Amino acid sequence: MQSIKIAPSILSADFTRLGEEIEAVDRAGAEVIHIDVMDGHFVPNITIGPLVVEAARRVTDKVLDVHLMISDADRYVDSFVKAGADWVTVHVETCTHLHRTVSRIKELGAKAGAVLNPATSLASLDFILEDLDLVMLMSVNPGFGGQSFIPSTLEKSWQLHQRIQSLGLEIGIEIDGGINAATIADATEAGANIFVAGSAVYGSSDYSETIAELKKLAAV
Ligand code: DX5
Ligand code: ZN
Repeated sequence: MQSIKIAPSILSADFTRLGEEIEAVDRAGAEVIHIDVMDGHFVPNITIGPLVVEAARRVTDKVLDVHLMISDADRYVDSFVKAGADWVTVHVETCTHLHRTVSRIKELGAKAGAVLNPATSLASLDFILEDLDLVMLMSVNPGFGGQSFIPSTLEKSWQLHQRIQSLGLEIGIEIDGGINAATIADATEAGANIFVAGSAVYGSSDYSETIAELKKLAAV
């Protein structure tokens, strides 16, 4: 059983005080800081580059989980790892040479994850699963925080969990999008263990209380 981890997404943080906002969730018990990188091409929004990852690295020792929603991940993987990313996750929909990209991330010393959009089948992982450290399932269409959880993610997560178990692999299952107090228990029951929570954490008035509540609900 992989340990439960809460990963606040800084997409919903107050960017005028980004350093403090990262320190606040670090102190509040988050194990992972989720950083959403968007290029305005693969997804309809533009956000963060390596410069911000490098700044985040200076204020926390927690895992920096860099989610690349960009068309040309191969071109930028080195910069993000150099900036301090511990985990780099890339979308199977945009990586033509996924095996090469995953190998490069690992060669650079980071953990590698593949991300699947809501409509992308688990079959896309058939010949890469054993090379991965984690799989992230999108439970919203990527691009924005604050969207509603897509329920079909639960069946997908459960199928993935069973497959990982039957192969005896140690691969984390991360779920991204619409995770909050109403959805996290179902996601845990579906075999996931790492939960991205943007608006649920940063939209709350007490980060410690919210993270503790999410962990409690996830401990089934
Ligand atoms: C969406 C991003 C998510 C987003 C989650 O494209 O990948 O990480 O920040 O936000 P919430 O938790 O508000 O759905
Ligand atoms: Zn994300």
